[in-house]
Amino acid sequence: MTDKTFTLTNDQTGEKWTLPVFEGTQGPSTIDIRSLYADTGFFTLDPSFTSTASCKSRITYIDGDEGILQHRGYDIKDLAENTSYLEVCHALLYGDLPNTAEKAEFENNITYHTMVHEQLHYFYRGFRRDAHPMAIMCGVVGALSSFYHDSLDIWDPEQREISAHRLIAKMPTLAAMTLKYSLGQPFVYPNNELSYSANFLNMCFSVPAEKYHVSPTLERAMDKILILHADHEQNASTSTVRIAGSSQANPFACIASGIASLWGPAHGGANQAVLEMLRQIGHKDNIPEFLERAKDKNDPFRLMGFGHRVYKNYDPRATVLKSSCDAVLDELGVDDPLLDLARELERIALEDPYFAERKLFPNVDFYSGIILKAMGFPEEMFTVLFAVSRTVGWISQWKEMIEEPSHRIGRPRQLYTGATERKVRPLDQRDPSRQEAAE
Ligand code: ACO
Repeated sequence: MTDKTFTLTNDQTGEKWTLPVFEGTQGPSTIDIRSLYADTGFFTLDPSFTSTASCKSRITYIDGDEGILQHRGYDIKDLAENTSYLEVCHALLYGDLPNTAEKAEFENNITYHTMVHEQLHYFYRGFRRDAHPMAIMCGVVGALSSFYHDSLDIWDPEQREISAHRLIAKMPTLAAMTLKYSLGQPFVYPNNELSYSANFLNMCFSVPAEKYHVSPTLERAMDKILILHADHEQNASTSTVRIAGSSQANPFACIASGIASLWGPAHGGANQAVLEMLRQIGHKDNIPEFLERAKDKNDPFRLMGFGHRVYKNYDPRATVLKSSCDAVLDELGVDDPLLDLARELERIALEDPYFAERKLFPNVDFYSGIILKAMGFPEEMFTVLFAVSRTVGWISQWKEMIEEPSHRIGRPRQLYTGATERKVRPLDQRDPSRQEAAE
């Protein structure tokens, strides 16, 4: 807190209230309204949290106007170019990038938790083969809490740490099993000699009948994709995890709630939606027609992969991914017409005043779908990959919340606009037009 304050005046009565102001290390100052209701009898209304900080956090900083994303103070481009995903996981969980000894220890801890309980295989068999992979992930990640009873005590720091390691380690295994199940191929066990990303690719794409070589370019591209999606401060799925965790639910259940929230096309489902949209557009000549549709408020069509609640500038993750995209397509010798279409769409949209005035720029999902498709992932798996990567962000934010001594259950208030009190009438006297509300 600072000596700065913010004074609120009730225009009707002239009453004044002085509220404390908090300064972060970066970013806007924050008015502390926690005592507002007790002091004034007023609530505040902010349904989609456009002006509300739901917590204090030391993990991730975003300046949406400048297009800045930092984890623990490290710039995302620096991290993507100079570290591995597991190093970023260490920074998110513990506050700093690891030194040599810490890196070895952390990698060892994660590597030796990669296998899942053998009985989990039966859960997969209960799903239809054509189940959406995110439906399976919601189920099996929630089910982890029924297997790992020894790390469910959220008040024990050691158990919290083991749960965090288990989640980071097992998510790729569960995700790859989801892919294998949908393909009707046998599950591939983790190989602890491989890096985190190489092991994931191996579990996704190898089959027992043939040798599979993980290409270093793809391994690096996978690692970058994981780094770029690792955390993004208080977005919808992270806020879901925090709110689920605020009731003291176990970490596996909390991460399952985050997966459910990530599934939607306005959040993690957007990269799949980008490819669907590019196919729908079909040809460069059709771009103007679709741009007009995106601008028309009566048409539900939106330019997927464009716009962001926080970034009102280029999403810094999109810049990194755009260059990775070229490297991957070159290595694989893929000449994807959808990529040309995407580049042209981006060029035309950025020149269009509608998008410029609203500060709608490509977000990370605009290019990630194209890379993942080139790597061989079916489109339904895209959001699953996002969930694999984001698990460390979710669990780091959950851990930070539990370790905050003053944390309480999350319980938003509301502005009630429904009927006022009314009496229950006998069935045969109820007015079908529901006029009783006006009584
Ligand atoms: N296409 C066309 N118009 C858009 C788009 C878009 N993709 N995004 C926003 N707009 C328009 C809105 O209609 C609105 O116009 P108006 O001021 O004339 O009413 C204006 O831009 C502001 O948009 P909001 O809806 O207020 O932006 P909001 O912050 O609520 O939504 C969101 C952000 C959900 C990401 C939105 O931009 C969108 O739907 N984008 C497409 C989906 C997508 O790519 N999601 C991925 C997000 S990144 C991630 O989760 C990793």
